[in-house]
Formats: sequence, C-alpha cells, structure tokens
Amino acid sequence: MTFRATILTLYPEMFPGHLAFSLAGKALERGQWSLDTMQIRDFAEDRHRTVDDTPAGGGAGMVLKPDILAKAIDNVSEGDDLAPGRPRLLMSPRGKPLTQERVRELAAGDGVVIICGRFEGVDQRVIDARNLEEVSIGDYVLSGGEPAALTLLDAVVRILPGVMGNALSGTHESFEDGLLEHPHYTRPQVFEGREIPAVLTSGNHAAIEKWRLEEAKKLTAERRPDLLKGK
Ligand code: ADE
Repeated sequence: MTFRATILTLYPEMFPGHLAFSLAGKALERGQWSLDTMQIRDFAEDRHRTVDDTPAGGGAGMVLKPDILAKAIDNVSEGDDLAPGRPRLLMSPRGKPLTQERVRELAAGDGVVIICGRFEGVDQRVIDARNLEEVSIGDYVLSGGEPAALTLLDAVVRILPGVMGNALSGTHESFEDGLLEHPHYTRPQVFEGREIPAVLTSGNHAAIEKWRLEEAKKLTAERRPDLLKGK
C-alpha cells in the first residue's frame, strides 16, 4: 500500500522540497509514497482570490477564512475514497507536540492530509467542524506550516516499510526506546588526540551493548530528564 500525503497550502512550490532527495526522494520515485499539493487559493471565489480576513475582536495579523479552507478540505475528501480514513493534520505552534510515537502511528496508516497555516491563524470553526488535529513540531514559531509539514513527512516517510536503506539502522535510534542515542565513533582510531573508547574496539559485544545503554541513559538524564519520568 502506498502512503498518500495531500498538502493544502498557499505555497505548493515549497513541496516536495528536501523530500525529493536522498532516501525519501528515491522512495517517492519508486512509488512507495505519494505527494499531492492543493492550492488553497483555488477555492476562493472573489475576483482577488481572497483567503484571509482581519481578526474578529481586532488585533494584529490576518486569519485564514473558514469557508475557503472547508471547501479545499471537502474537495480532498470527495476526490478520494481514502480521505475519510486519513487524519487531517493542521500544522500549528498551538498543536500537540509531535512525538516519535505519533510518527509511528501515522506511518502505519494509509496517509495524511496536511493543512499548512499562514498568517496569525485559522478560524477556529473550521478546525472544529472538520475535526483538524493540530500538530506542533516544537516550541518556536515558524512563518508558516510548510516547513513543519515537510519535517513531519520526513519523519514518517523514513520509517515506511522498505524506505530506509539499512533496515536495522531504524531500530536503535533516539526515542525508539525512549532514550537519546549513545555516541558514535568511526576511524581513525585517534582524532586530534582523542581515542575511540576502548570497549568499542574490544570485540566484546555484551560489554559494548552495556556501555551503549549506560551512555544513552547518562545523556538522557543530562539533556532530557523529562524523557526518564515514569521509567
Ligand atoms: N507553524 C508555525 N510554527 C509552527 C510550529 N512550531 N509547529 C508546527 N507548525 C507551525
């Protein structure tokens, strides 16, 4: 089954962006996933193709109009019998933070419909009426949802079956076991006076695994103690 991504955006030219390269790009060429963009502005009906308006109650910025966005979303659903089964994600700094767990769930499904916000925000009524799941990629504000959508898709596509070059390289990485990853080393044996930790060249696989787990725990405690809560 091909994983289908449909993006609703005012900047379709921003896609596939970096996803045309490397493993994701090859998988796209091979048809292991598909990417369609839809221009939200195409659903505006006035002469100026207006998609935004001033916020009710006043204040700075502009708000994406609910009627236009609803029409765009309904168009995806009508043209596609899969759409009702695909989560509708709205990229937004107000959203629930994206986790590797949610990425795994999305990758196990048929695909996603992603709405990229611009301006100050999206009218709340279309978020409610079309059951949009607001997703944030971190506690900072981007100028639009497009780079966030590309980031989410990157995380999903790389774990689709058959996409990752070395199948094993996906199993022991940051967050897969709730920990940050242990440090990595490769030749030369000495770099600017720094040696590879001796255990890694000992050939003792049990000792290596133990060292890696300890390093992962140490690093996680230092940088992300929040990840250890409840462990
Ligand atoms: N749009 C703007 N900022 C964002 C963020 N942090 N995450 C997702 N979408 C966004």
